[in-house]
Amino acid sequence: MCGAPARTVGWRHPGYIHTSYLKDLWPDSMYTYRLGHRLPNGTRIWSKSYNFKASPYPGQDSLQRVVIFGDMGKAEADGSNEYNDFQPGSLNTTNQIIRDLDNVDMVVHIGDICYANGYLSQWDQFTAQIEPIASTVPYMIGSGNHERDWPGTGSFYGNLDSGGECGVPAQTVFYTPAENRAKFWYATDYGMFRFCIAHTEEDWRPGTEQYEFIQHCLSSVDRQKQPWLIFLAHRVLGYSSNSYYAFEGTFEEPMGREALQELWQKYKVDLAFYGHVHNYERTCPVYQSQCVVNASNHYSGPFQATTHVVVGGAGASLSDFTSSKIQWSHFRDFDHGFAKLTAFNHSSLLFEYKKSRDGDVYDHFTISRDYRDVLACSVDNCPRTSLAS
Ligand SMILES: [Fe+2]
Repeated sequence: MCGAPARTVGWRHPGYIHTSYLKDLWPDSMYTYRLGHRLPNGTRIWSKSYNFKASPYPGQDSLQRVVIFGDMGKAEADGSNEYNDFQPGSLNTTNQIIRDLDNVDMVVHIGDICYANGYLSQWDQFTAQIEPIASTVPYMIGSGNHERDWPGTGSFYGNLDSGGECGVPAQTVFYTPAENRAKFWYATDYGMFRFCIAHTEEDWRPGTEQYEFIQHCLSSVDRQKQPWLIFLAHRVLGYSSNSYYAFEGTFEEPMGREALQELWQKYKVDLAFYGHVHNYERTCPVYQSQCVVNASNHYSGPFQATTHVVVGGAGASLSDFTSSKIQWSHFRDFDHGFAKLTAFNHSSLLFEYKKSRDGDVYDHFTISRDYRDVLACSVDNCPRTSLAS
């Protein structure tokens, strides 16, 4: 790792981290597994048995449900080992997801995973907290400032937020199907979804390797198989009326949507999710800071523009909003919560925002699309979409 405390007082030997690959799984089949260890005297000890259901095949038409959030962290149920109580909503979020786990197929945690910040035993505390989830459904992660940022190590921001970890525990403890796991951007398909997961702690602007990846991920999806195209990143590359972005006057991470909005529009990205800002906010379908259509609880017809969602309220201390009314900002909630997507089939998607305190739905919308718009032209001969058109 890169510096203190991860290399000094925060360090502990992590033991050995193994990655197993299970090949040729039958889609939707239930599998049972357990973990074992052979002792020097030859006897074997076994964990309890766990179950998981194999992923649907790409394009499969079946009920598919994905939970998405950022910035969850961990907490102590009895407070016994708590030192700063920075993630007060964390256990509520974890417990709501466990309670509803029969109705969840996959989880995506978009950065600021456990806030170990160089105190490595906290990764164990976090993985113990999420074990009921991560042992049962895919627990996919993105990387945030608290995993990656460290001066002089190639991170886009030269701050001390990772506590010297510089991404090493995150990329080691969690598997991502990335070409280079240290870079942390990757594409993953689940049934009717394609997820393009960016890494805001490395440069994403045109001309970079990551920009090429984002363009390729968005453009290469076969929308007949994966109609639901989802972009995810830790910092808010799209829209947020959180108070510090509003104070800067950018309403986003600087250089975010300027660099990427043409890609989201051209490739008809349905939804973009972000963390980093610790609250919930949903925009209208928006392009170039203008609502292309009015915000609604039901969208139908051809794609108009991407809906941007901040879901960084899964655990860490909440961030407040600007008091100004912003035209594209449709729904704001200063509370802990998470999002859930339910794809019923290739033309019907439900979005829900749930509070962590009770698991109830406080915002929702549906998208009904026949996808003639994305199928009528291949990506490079589609007419260019602008605000004027
Ligand atoms: Fe963050």
